[in-house]
Amino acid sequence: MGKYVPPTVLTNEDLEKRIDTSDEWIRSRTGIEERRIADNETNTSDMAYEAAKEALESANIRPDQLGLILVATVTPDYTFPSVSTMIQERLGAKNAAAMDVSAACAGFIYGVVTAKQFVESGAYEYVLVVGVEKLSKIVDWEDRNTAVLFGDGAGATVVGKVSEGRGILSFELGADGSGGKHLCHKEFIEMNGREVFKFAVRQMGESALSVAEKAGLSKDDVDYLVPHQANIRIMEASRERLGLPVEKMSKSVHKYGNTSAASIPISLTDDLAEGRVKDDDVVVLVGFGGGLTWGALCIKWGK
Ligand code: ACO
Repeated sequence: MGKYVPPTVLTNEDLEKRIDTSDEWIRSRTGIEERRIADNETNTSDMAYEAAKEALESANIRPDQLGLILVATVTPDYTFPSVSTMIQERLGAKNAAAMDVSAACAGFIYGVVTAKQFVESGAYEYVLVVGVEKLSKIVDWEDRNTAVLFGDGAGATVVGKVSEGRGILSFELGADGSGGKHLCHKEFIEMNGREVFKFAVRQMGESALSVAEKAGLSKDDVDYLVPHQANIRIMEASRERLGLPVEKMSKSVHKYGNTSAASIPISLTDDLAEGRVKDDDVVVLVGFGGGLTWGALCIKWGK
């Protein structure tokens, strides 16, 4: 795994000076204290490249060993060329095919599940999956309903074969296009917060439980939960459905806000670096997002 977050911190106090909001409102409704914002010179592909480089180094894989690059993003630099082709060139991954995946905040899970199919079929030995967003470029900074929620960043992983008994035990992907109107991007991000909240609380809990069941496990077998970092109250609801103690849930929403497709890999990269996830832990990743889309993975951690 690897990650990149831009150095510039935007705090709730900074936002208080720009729009009619308060640190107290943002913290109590979302759990967010600050978020990272990329500067004008840093676009989505720059952050994707940095996270990808770190993931390749930590996996000890050379770029030319990659068979495929998948980039999950809803904020690409351009409609085309894709972010995945841009980083293919910068990494020197000359043997890799490349495509972007669009599933909003569930994009990283969709990407990893797609990578798994290519690795299992034997088509590719290693697939790089990146979740990356520069949401600051599609947020209406005058709209207090959305401006307080989002941040920029990137997280990446290399998917490849692991030893017997380890790796992805099960997955779930889903979509409900009838809910697309509740969360969309036309000129800026538009959101019906209450509808998204209700959907997220229900879906995150159900998918987390269902993916454990598909792996033949009960919720008591789950050691760690990595939920999409959208809102602490939504995250807490899914943790409670699994019956896990507070310290067994990944939490970085207070530092980075909602980074959409990047939130799960950013949070998990920090968990690994700080020793919260260890080999042979059963880890559930679960996300939801615009579309509406959702996805979950149950993983026995380790190479
Ligand atoms: N500061 C102060 N007041 C605010 C702010 C703000 N930043 N934003 C909204 N309000 C006001 C509204 O105007 C409204 O006022 P009104 O009642 O006078 O009309 C009121 O606060 C709304 O309050 P609540 O209904 O209590 O807010 P709620 O508890 O629903 O929290 C929130 C709002 C945080 C947006 C919540 O609904 C939520 O988290 N929804 C899910 C959002 C989400 O996860 N989005 C991302 C999903 S996927 C993706 O990432 C693309």
